[in-house]
Amino acid sequence: MTKKAKNPFQRSLFEEEEDSHLLSSSKTSSTFADNLSLPIHRWFRYSAGFSALWARETIRTAIAEQKSEVRILDPFAGSGTVLVEADRAQVPSFGVESHPFVARLARAKTANTTNADKFKAYTTEILARAEKNKPNLESHSVLTRKCFPDEILANLDQLRSAWRQVENTTEKELGWLALASILRQCSPVGTANWQYVLPKKTKAKTSNPFEAFKTKAKQICFDLAERPVGAHKSSLIRGDARSMLEVPDEWATLVITSPPYPNNFDYADATRLEMTFFGEIEGWGCLQDAVRKYLVRSCTQHISPIVSTTSEIVRSPELDPIRKEIEAVIDALEKARHEHGGKKNYHTMIAAYFLDMAKVWKDLRRVTSPHARVCFVVGDSAPYSVYVPVDVWMGRLAVASGFRSFSFLKTRDRNIKWKNRKHRVPLHEGQLWVKG
Ligand SMILES: C[S@@+](CC[C@H](N)C(=O)[O-])C[C@H]1O[C@@H](n2cnc3c(N)ncnc32)[C@H](O)[C@@H]1O
Repeated sequence: MTKKAKNPFQRSLFEEEEDSHLLSSSKTSSTFADNLSLPIHRWFRYSAGFSALWARETIRTAIAEQKSEVRILDPFAGSGTVLVEADRAQVPSFGVESHPFVARLARAKTANTTNADKFKAYTTEILARAEKNKPNLESHSVLTRKCFPDEILANLDQLRSAWRQVENTTEKELGWLALASILRQCSPVGTANWQYVLPKKTKAKTSNPFEAFKTKAKQICFDLAERPVGAHKSSLIRGDARSMLEVPDEWATLVITSPPYPNNFDYADATRLEMTFFGEIEGWGCLQDAVRKYLVRSCTQHISPIVSTTSEIVRSPELDPIRKEIEAVIDALEKARHEHGGKKNYHTMIAAYFLDMAKVWKDLRRVTSPHARVCFVVGDSAPYSVYVPVDVWMGRLAVASGFRSFSFLKTRDRNIKWKNRKHRVPLHEGQLWVKG
C-alpha cells in the first residue's frame, strides 16, 4: 500500500497531480517538481519544497512595488528555496529551519565560501580516496543494509569514509549534500521521495554510487560557476519559527513561507534513510530526540506524551481568537477517535499545532516591519473526516497578533479524484496573504 492510500488527508505537496486540480493556470506555489530543472534547487529533491519560480516571481513583484529595501524572511525555510531565490535577486534574507538535516541542506545550498574550482578539487580528492578505501559493511545499521545490496553499500561506504577523512570545509558540506542526494537513486528497494523504504516495492533501475556521485558533483560545479557574483546575502539559521531569536525586531518586509500542514506527515521519519546512513541516528527510536522535538507539532508521532494535557493546551490564551471553533473540532475528533481502529490522537495534534502556529504568528509580528506582507502557502485538513479550516484559523491568529488583515487565494482543489480516499471532504491549498 502506498503512503498516499494510508494518509487520506496528506498534503498535496506530496500528492501526485492526479489528485489535484490546478486552478491557477501559471505557476502553482506548491510543487517542487519544476525545481529539479533549476540551478541549485536541483541539488537535492526535497519533496516538501515549493515552487522556486513562484518564489522568484513573488520576490520580483515585491522589488518592483516596494519603495524601501526588500528584506525577506522564511520562517520554515526547508531546503532553502526562498533563500536561493533571494540570493539570486540579491536581496538580504533570513531562513529559519529546525530540522537538523533539512537546515544543513539549506545551509549547504546557500554557503558563500566556496566556488566551482574549489569544489571540483575537493570531489577529485574524495573520489581518489574512496577508490582506495576498504569497505566496512559491518559499520552500517540494519536499515541501511536492508536498503542496499552489499556491492552498492560497499561503494557508498568507500565514499562515506573518504568524506569523513577530509577536514571540515564548506566543500565538505556540499560533499555531504551530494552523497545524501544520491542515496535513494542507488537503492534497488522502493524508496519513495519521502518514506524511508517501501519494502514490498523494487526499482528496475539503480545508479552506481561512484557514477552518481560524479554526476552530482559535476552538476554542483556547473551551478556554482553560473551563480551570479555577489549573490550571497542570505543567512540560514537553525532555529525555531516559534521564537526566532536571531532575527532582529521589525526586520522583514516580506515573508514567504510554507509551514508544515496539520496532516500527520512526519518530517522526522522522512529523512530517516539519509540520517541513518551518515550515523546521525541509529534508528526510528532516535527520531524523537534528534528531530521531532524541534518541529511544529503536525503529526500524531509528536504528541503521544502530551495527550493527557489536551484540555490544558486548548485553554491556552493564544487560542482565544479561534476558541469556539477549535473546541468544537477537538470534541468531534475525540469522538471520532473511538470509531476508528487506529485511535489516533488527532484532537491533541490539532490543539498543539494551532498553539504552535499562534506562537509563530506572534513572533512574526515582532520580526516584521509595520507594512510587511506575509504569504503562507497552506492547505486545509480533515482527519477522521473532521474539517479543519487551516487558512481561516491562521488568518485569525495573524490578525490577533497585530497584523491588519488577511485574504486567501486558492491555487488548487485536493481530494477530489482520489479513488482510494478514506473521506470525501473536499480540501484545498493556496496562498494566505497577510498585511502588516
Ligand atoms: C513545507 S516545508 C517548507 C519547504 C520549503 N518551502 C522549501 O521549498 O524547501 C516546512 C518546513 O518547516 C520545518 N519546520 C517544522 N517545524 C519548524 C519549526 N518549529 N521551526 C522552523 N522550521 C520548522 C520542517 O522541517 C520543514 O522543512
